[in-house]
Amino acid sequence: MRNADDRRRGIMKRILSGVQPTGKLHLGNYFGAIKQHIALQGEGKSFYFLADYHSMTTIQDAATRRQLTQEAAMDYLALGLDPTRAIFFRQSDVPEVCELAWILGTVINMGLLERAHSYKDKVAKGIEASVGLFTYPILMAADILIYRSNLVPVGEDQVQHVEITRDIAEKFNRIYGETFPLPAARLEAGAKVPGIDGQKMSKSYGNTIEIFAEGKPLKKSVMGIVTDSTPVEAPKDPDKCTVHTLYKLFATPEEQGALADRYRAGGMGYGEAKTLLLAKIDEYFGPFRERRKQLAANGAEVEDVLRDGAKRARAEALETMDLVRSAVGFSKRPS
Ligand code: ADP
Ligand code: TRP
Repeated sequence: MRNADDRRRGIMKRILSGVQPTGKLHLGNYFGAIKQHIALQGEGKSFYFLADYHSMTTIQDAATRRQLTQEAAMDYLALGLDPTRAIFFRQSDVPEVCELAWILGTVINMGLLERAHSYKDKVAKGIEASVGLFTYPILMAADILIYRSNLVPVGEDQVQHVEITRDIAEKFNRIYGETFPLPAARLEAGAKVPGIDGQKMSKSYGNTIEIFAEGKPLKKSVMGIVTDSTPVEAPKDPDKCTVHTLYKLFATPEEQGALADRYRAGGMGYGEAKTLLLAKIDEYFGPFRERRKQLAANGAEVEDVLRDGAKRARAEALETMDLVRSAVGFSKRPS
């Protein structure tokens, strides 16, 4: 579907992604998602949002949700999200997305959701699933479709949800007439970032290095990276070491090669490699920390950005809902 706006702008791709504010953002989130989101913001009409409705499937405390949402907003802004180039907002500030989720839920079958990993994985771990967790992919489909998105940059774990969204959009279009463009996932190029214990870095494993940690707490995380017990003098394999894998995220190819040579030569302890990694983290995130502190000292500025983003996002969402409501046979949206 191409609306009048898109025609005026030429065919401008709409890029959309969301992040769940369910914990402090970490290096895995940065190199796996946030960095690409920020890099893409100039390439089309971009929408980035804090998925606070989605966070309800794991967090059930109002103050925690409020705080984590605010912190994730400050993180994105400090890391370079530019609200003049991307529409940045809280998911719950556009409640029409829930109306669309209901409508979409009536065109797809249970079987499609029963196959979704997010639900299957939790159930396999013995976690009792709420109805919200089960229907989570429908809300995500509504997020994507309500902004008529074309491209959804996500990590590998979310690709299935984008495929489910295409299925839902196709089915809706077949039943009610051509309404939604079919979105495609854009897999983040970033590699899987290991946590300090060597498994995938994740909020839920408690193995993260936070993007905005600094000083002692940051040092504690870095020094806590698990390494093997090869003695200092012995040669070491850089490819099997989490410290080296993390160092590579920050270093130039020459620096990576130089450190790898030192591993192989022996005579360097893991402690020294950790100190080099720590210096790289400080150098990379140092300038962002300053901006983050300014934002933290001025909550009103962050709130203004989010409210303005919500206003712009909502205008787009309402335009879509007018089409949807008419397609399914509802009256005009009550004003
Ligand atoms: P977490 O596992 O910490 O809960 P999320 O599932 O909220 O993280 O992920 C948010 C985004 O960050 C997703 O796009 C995801 O693919 C990416 N991401 C999370 N952890 C990593 C990691 N260790 N390596 C690369 N990307 C990651
Ligand atoms: N489910 C995504 C995650 O856990 C967050 C998300 C919600 C999202 N809605 C979205 C991502 C729409 C992309 C598009 O990471």
